[in-house]
Amino acid sequence: MKDRYGRKIEYMRVSITDRCNLRCKYCMPDGCDKVSHNDILSYEDMERICTAASRIGITKFKVTGGEPLVRVGCPDFVKRLKDIPGTEQVTLTTNGVELERYMDDLVAAGLDAVNISLDTMDPDRFRYITGGGSLERTMSGIDAAVKSGIRTKINCLIQKDFNEDETDRFAELAFGKGIDVRFIEMMPIGAGNPDLGVANRQILMKLRTRWPELEPDESVHGNGPAVYFRHPEKSGSIGFISAMHGVFCSSCNRIRLTSQGLIKPCLCYEDSVDLKPVLSGTIEEIQEKLTEAVLMKPGQHCFNNAPKRSERRMMSQIGG
Ligand code: 5AD
Ligand code: SF4
Repeated sequence: MKDRYGRKIEYMRVSITDRCNLRCKYCMPDGCDKVSHNDILSYEDMERICTAASRIGITKFKVTGGEPLVRVGCPDFVKRLKDIPGTEQVTLTTNGVELERYMDDLVAAGLDAVNISLDTMDPDRFRYITGGGSLERTMSGIDAAVKSGIRTKINCLIQKDFNEDETDRFAELAFGKGIDVRFIEMMPIGAGNPDLGVANRQILMKLRTRWPELEPDESVHGNGPAVYFRHPEKSGSIGFISAMHGVFCSSCNRIRLTSQGLIKPCLCYEDSVDLKPVLSGTIEEIQEKLTEAVLMKPGQHCFNNAPKRSERRMMSQIGG
């Protein structure tokens, strides 16, 4: 369906858990609040919500977390989403730690693509930023994804004085493996502090000093707001998600379901529609609530206007 601004809403991010096996400093720092297990929706309820969502025109689902692969049964859930009539695509965002183990199951479930978060290829930095994680596990996850032939993208968040010097290495990773690497600007959500981030235009400028041939890549890469560049002689692309320095809200196509059953129309605002009260009702009732949420979608985010930002939850509770 279309929202009040004429945008076609066809994509829903589904956070199946707020738990994670890493503790990235800007996302889920040690000690941050966790949702009680009793408040997390069952897969059955999530499937019903997604069925209702498909009736209002959602054709693409992204399974997210926290870290979705820490919840038992994630590949089965992917299959259930694929089986909803009208589903065109089911994709997954993961930190890659458990990916090697689950890759075959996910492919068998019909997963269409995977996004893997990776901010650094230095083992010590990785351990630091993820609160103790092993780079090797995530790299094996990436290799397993690439080997499976599934469309693979890397999400990379560059921070000042931390991993700024790795942007060329990330471009080489894209070219070397023939995959997309996307630079995401740090957003002021949860523990995220945009002052620590780097503007994507600076990253592009730096990459162009080494690869002046980088040119805009107009081909469609996915469902999101990334803008892509490619090198005429190389495979793989470099994407930029410029949440802070480029407003892409006019083409926003999404809503978000949290693991507690809230529909969030926009990442920036706390406003949400609680589906829990209608979960014991009919699919039509859920559909009505989803319609309400779509019609609540604001015209654009307000990340650059601190007093107006109302979202106080952690990114891990929202699903990115
Ligand atoms: N700003 C931008 N991206 C973030 N992520 C987590 N927190 C933030 C933030 N504040 C990203 C992670 C991961 C995805 C799940 O969300 O880097 O790629
Ligand atoms: Fe976990 Fe991803 Fe958040 Fe890191 S960014 S703590 S891997 S959910």
